[in-house]
Amino acid sequence: MYLGIDLGTSAVTTVLVDGAQRVIASESRPLTTTSPLSGYFEQDPAQWIDATFATLDALKVTHAGELAAVEGIGLSGQMHGATLLDASARPLRPCILWNDGRSAAECRVLERRWPALRTTSGNKAMPGFTAPKLLWIATHEPEIFAATKLVLLPKAYLRLVLSGEAIEDVSDASGSLWLDAARRDWSDAALAATGLSRDHMPRLVEGCAPATTLRGELARRWGMTGQPVIAGGAGDNPAGAVGIGAIRPGTAFVSLGTSGALLAPTSRIAANPDRAVHTFCHAIPDMWIQAGAILSAASCLAWIARLFGAAEAELLAPLGLRPQAPSPVSFLPYLAGERTPHDDPAVRGMLDGLSHGTDLGSIVQAVLEGVAFALADCRDALADAGIAMTEADAIGGGSRSGFWLSVLANVLNVPIHRFAGGETGAAFGAARLGRLAVTGEAIAAVCTRPQRIETFEPDARLVDAYAERLPAWRALYRPRH
Ligand code: XUL
Repeated sequence: MYLGIDLGTSAVTTVLVDGAQRVIASESRPLTTTSPLSGYFEQDPAQWIDATFATLDALKVTHAGELAAVEGIGLSGQMHGATLLDASARPLRPCILWNDGRSAAECRVLERRWPALRTTSGNKAMPGFTAPKLLWIATHEPEIFAATKLVLLPKAYLRLVLSGEAIEDVSDASGSLWLDAARRDWSDAALAATGLSRDHMPRLVEGCAPATTLRGELARRWGMTGQPVIAGGAGDNPAGAVGIGAIRPGTAFVSLGTSGALLAPTSRIAANPDRAVHTFCHAIPDMWIQAGAILSAASCLAWIARLFGAAEAELLAPLGLRPQAPSPVSFLPYLAGERTPHDDPAVRGMLDGLSHGTDLGSIVQAVLEGVAFALADCRDALADAGIAMTEADAIGGGSRSGFWLSVLANVLNVPIHRFAGGETGAAFGAARLGRLAVTGEAIAAVCTRPQRIETFEPDARLVDAYAERLPAWRALYRPRH
């Protein structure tokens, strides 16, 4: 029996997976984000721990026998966040999250101080990545910077509490900008450029390798008979890839979570930092992931639902199964700024084309289309790096909407496939990594492709209609910096 724990942005989700790779149970607890200033996003690490423990306590009530038999645990997590710990491993301040845009000036400083940044990390310095956040802290909160003894990504902090050891996997570490992506090791030059050294960093392991074990007292709390192995795990995007068996070139997929991404596993680095394409190590050895990442995807739907005081399902139902034509309204999904392709933390969202005749349905459809157009920008940025896509799988909470996947198929002009249980992708992928760490089985034997339950095919008429709209949608973007 294996556990996958995904420390997401809106929730912690824990899944219990058996030896036949069936999800036996799943528990989720919500997380809240605070925004002290526009474009600033933070979370209190204590709530990650409370939420994780609550999911496991709940599983103990409903599935005590299965939980007792857990041998391996995999962690997946929201990427890039800076959790700063003091000499007693206590958080010094709330974690600055992946979508936080405060460190734009520090990105420019970092690129000047360390000219090899793009070639070594495969990435452009963008706010949201971890390293510029530390420069921001050094300038704006120098006493906190001075007290910082350890810098951890969110799931490494969770692992520290679960195991007592500071360890990170290379996929999540590549979202820090401190990693040499080809060597899959910390870059001393990158760390020095932010006034840090390896002493501030956790030990690195591959995602599917055994990292440590669950503390004995916690294993007893959850009634486990042994002390389960904790795998390296992965950032949520690479973990999602493992969950759907996207472990070789030609297995591109779309993630519609709080954030969105178009991701392509590659057997060599195919970076395009100038267009803000992300380079991540994959959660399996000798593979990488090139990604276009957008900061707001399913969170745009959550925003519009909040605005109209309606449940998301209630807003989606009247749209029907697939679009008949593009909405007359256009939406820029830049509610938290944007990464690929603009790298513009200051830009904000927009609704364009409203009239007296505009109904709620046109606005909701425009929101879904705006996210799809932003993913078309990601597709083009990846294409510039030589990565072509002929089809894509969809994962994340947003993939529950067939209407949205149909819009995506038409905007991207490729078939989009959906899996059963795609919403628990990252947690399921983490459980697979937990299993690999225990059994050492062949990766391909465990990371199989789940059964596709539905395919959304592009329709030539709609493909043309959306292609015609794309230039006008793009023209709405005005850089703010
Ligand atoms: C990827 C990114 C997000 C976070 C949160 O670059 O910032 O996908 O991992 O999910």
